[in-house]
Formats: sequence, structure tokens, C-alpha cells
Amino acid sequence: MKRTVWLTTALLIMNLLITPGMINGQDISLPSPSRKGGMPLMEALNVRGSARLFSDKELSLQQLSDLLWAAWGINREADGKRTAPSSRNMQEMDVYVSLKNGLYLYDARGNMLKQIHDRDIRALTGTQDFPAAAPVNLVYVADLARRGLKEGQQVTDTDLLSSWANTGFMAQNVYLWCASEGMSCVIRALVPRDKLEPEMGLKPLQKVILAQTNLKWASNRSRR
Ligand SMILES: Cc1cc2nc3c(=O)[nH]c(=O)nc-3n(C[C@H](O)[C@H](O)[C@H](O)COP(=O)(O)O)c2cc1C
Repeated sequence: MKRTVWLTTALLIMNLLITPGMINGQDISLPSPSRKGGMPLMEALNVRGSARLFSDKELSLQQLSDLLWAAWGINREADGKRTAPSSRNMQEMDVYVSLKNGLYLYDARGNMLKQIHDRDIRALTGTQDFPAAAPVNLVYVADLARRGLKEGQQVTDTDLLSSWANTGFMAQNVYLWCASEGMSCVIRALVPRDKLEPEMGLKPLQKVILAQTNLKWASNRSRR
């Protein structure tokens, strides 16, 4: 009996410590983002583009950290504001990172990737063939609870308008960072949301907006 009480208490404490959906503790600590250097802005704009042919070379942790900071990092620590704007600064967006070794949630404050689970769901992040083999797929998720929607409330397209706009800014930051790094990427609306959302362990008020595939250029730098 005592043993059961002890075990239940331990499980409860573990649940409180763990992010919803996370099933183990394989988090990845990221190096500090560079926040300096890179290509001059006009040159990055000059080469920005979408590409769908990729090399399967992994990104370094530094590249991952810089990429995520560009997408949705904190650039003004004093008030926790971000590299991308959000409507009424509601910051309802989350960036999930689908890698070969699992699904992670970008924690900008902790500068880390929190593991959600250790399954490879890259193929499920898109309906095209290339996401399955790409080293990094970002999935932009809106948590509408942060916009004041209540549990059980039906989410309408109108509720999602700002989140789509927010995602556009984040994705463009990533495009420019990729251009600066000589890396390729493409933003994607072709996402099987009905299959992906349950695989990500999302709650009903968490909605996948877009996904973005990020990779190093194929050696021939082919864009199609
Ligand atoms: C909202 C949005 C959704 C998109 N969805 C996809 C997609 O699902 N798959 C894809 O390969 N490209 C997708 N793209 C990329 C566009 O096809 C691409 O931006 C367009 O062809 C122009 O090419 P550029 O980005 O090189 O200028 C999308 C772009 C936007 C803005």
C-alpha cells in the first residue's frame, strides 16, 4: 500500500515536471545563437528562394540554434520579444522540429529542444516526398489557448488568420537565414494536418499552420 502511494506521488511529480506530450528526457541543449555576422541583408534577399532538392547532411547544433533563433528566438531579453512579430504580441506560435531521432519543441527561453517523442515522423510533416529524407522539418503550430480560446471551443478559420500571418514572418526569417548560410529551404502548406496533429500529441486548441523543410544545398545547388 505504502509502495503504491509512493509510486503514484512520484508519477504525479514527474508529470508536473514534464512538458505535455513529452515521453522522455532526451532534450537537446543548444549553443547560444550567433546573433552576429551573416550575409548583408540585400545580398540575402537577392538569393532567397525555395528549393526542393536537398543533400541529407545533418545540420550542426550551432546551425540549428541559429536557424531557430532566426525563426522565433528572443531578441529583446528585457521584455521577451521575438525575432518575428506576432499579432498583439500574443506569441501563440510554437516551432516544433522534426528530426530523424525524434520530435522536439523549440524552447527559446531555455535555448533548448525539448523532446516530445523519439519517433521519426518527418514523412508525416508533408505530402511531398522530400520531407521524409530532409534532416530538418520545422512545423509551425498555433496554440489558440494563448489567444484566449477556451477548451472545447470550435476553432474557425478566422481564429487562425493572425497565426497564419505570424507564421509568414517566421518562415521569411528562416528563408533569409538559409539564404545567408547557403542553405536551402521551402515553406509548405501541403501538410497532412489530420494525421500529423495526433502524431505530434497536440491538444485540440493547438493547430498546425505550415511546415518548412531546411537542408544544406545539394552539391550542384540545384533548385528544382
Ligand atoms: C503559403 C505558402 C505555401 C506553400 N506551400 C508549398 C508546399 O506545400 N510545397 C512546396 O513545395 N512549396 C510550397 N510553397 C512555396 C512556393 O511554391 C514558392 O514560394 C513559389 O513557387 C515561389 O518560389 P520562390 O519561393 O523560390 O520565390 C508555398 C509558399 C507559400 C507562401
